[in-house]
Amino acid sequence: MKKLTMLALMLGSYAFASFPAVAGTPTVSESSSFEQKTGEDLYNSICQGCHMEGGKGVSTGAGFYPALAENAKLAAPGYPIYVLVNGLGGMPSFKHYLTDEQIVEVVNYVRTHFGNDYQEKATLEDVKTMTNR
Ligand code: HEC
Repeated sequence: MKKLTMLALMLGSYAFASFPAVAGTPTVSESSSFEQKTGEDLYNSICQGCHMEGGKGVSTGAGFYPALAENAKLAAPGYPIYVLVNGLGGMPSFKHYLTDEQIVEVVNYVRTHFGNDYQEKATLEDVKTMTNR
């Protein structure tokens, strides 16, 4: 029992280690908590903590982080935008931590890397439709 609690704590801090803004007290702030501007930098500092290097994902007994590599669900820009804005299951919403511009950048980054080659770009308009700001 004790061992399990420790494990849960360790996994919890592991998952949150790379995005301190989310681990802190969630505040309803419209300002960005991340300085990174390029999709690559954003991916490396935020998403990689869960989705792993190369977007290959990971599945452990305690958690499942889907691969973004070769992921057909990224073909239409609306889906990854939706997930970032609203969150999905174990993935938190990033609406209050990323600007609309940062969401466009990171979405287009994952859609054109890791074996994905989706040409139709997500636009700022697409994101604004979902964030309503
Ligand atoms: C705290 C860990 C965590 C972080 C950080 C995170 N994700 Fe996720 N993500 C998840 C989990 C867990 C799921 C699966 C949710 C489900 O299906 O219940 C997921 C699902 C997704 C999906 C849907 C994949 C599919 O096949 O349906 C996309 C797209 C996605 N994440 C993109 C990103 C991007 C881009 C970032 C960085 C801005 C990011 N995620 C950061 C945990 C995370």
